[in-house]
Amino acid sequence: MNGTRAKVVAFNGSARKGGNTSILLRYALKELENEGIDTELIELSGVKIHGCLSCRKCSENKNRRCSQTGDMGNAYIEKMEQADGVLLGSPTYVADISPEIKALMDRACLVSKANGGIFRRKVGAAVVAVRRAGAIHAFDALNHFFLISEMIVPGSSYWNIGIGREIGDVEKDEEGIQTMKTLGRNMAWLLKKIRS
Ligand SMILES: Cc1cc2nc3c(=O)[nH]c(=O)nc-3n(C[C@H](O)[C@H](O)[C@H](O)COP(=O)(O)O)c2cc1C
Repeated sequence: MNGTRAKVVAFNGSARKGGNTSILLRYALKELENEGIDTELIELSGVKIHGCLSCRKCSENKNRRCSQTGDMGNAYIEKMEQADGVLLGSPTYVADISPEIKALMDRACLVSKANGGIFRRKVGAAVVAVRRAGAIHAFDALNHFFLISEMIVPGSSYWNIGIGREIGDVEKDEEGIQTMKTLGRNMAWLLKKIRS
């Protein structure tokens, strides 16, 4: 843990900045802020982030960073390393996660493994927006990153999904919004326990 206040960084993997995934993440972040936790939301929309090259140079270099330096990958890995908690948000795309969040996840995962587990015991949680179906698969895909990274995952009162198609539709999903609020409060509780 670093500094006097805990920090949570959230990544929105949607191609639509400020869309449903972003709205859902903000509900969780608001609860964290209410508990005195610093937050930052990073939108991956329009950001250059390449997938993992499987070059394995992270295992040779062991410098806690990816060998690809021409995009935002390392800046985001650093953000995750500096935070106490990480929220990964994705819309459901063809019953899966977005390519942007997958690119970040894959690179962060290999860099972490190559350096002895740089995210170990940080708190991690997934958030998914969906129109109709495929959200659970996307939710599982995000959770795989936390679990293989030895991170600790808080739950909520339902799986962390919100239903909507057009931007703002998720506001009408009362249960989805409540799930995000409960997730934010549970994440705050867990962060405080870990820091105490
Ligand atoms: C390429 C693409 C694929 C999609 N695939 C699915 C899908 O498999 N299941 C589904 O329910 N919605 C699907 N959707 C709809 C989005 O998940 C939904 O509109 C969501 O609210 C978008 O979140 P956003 O506003 O954060 O981008 C898809 C949308 C796009 C653009």
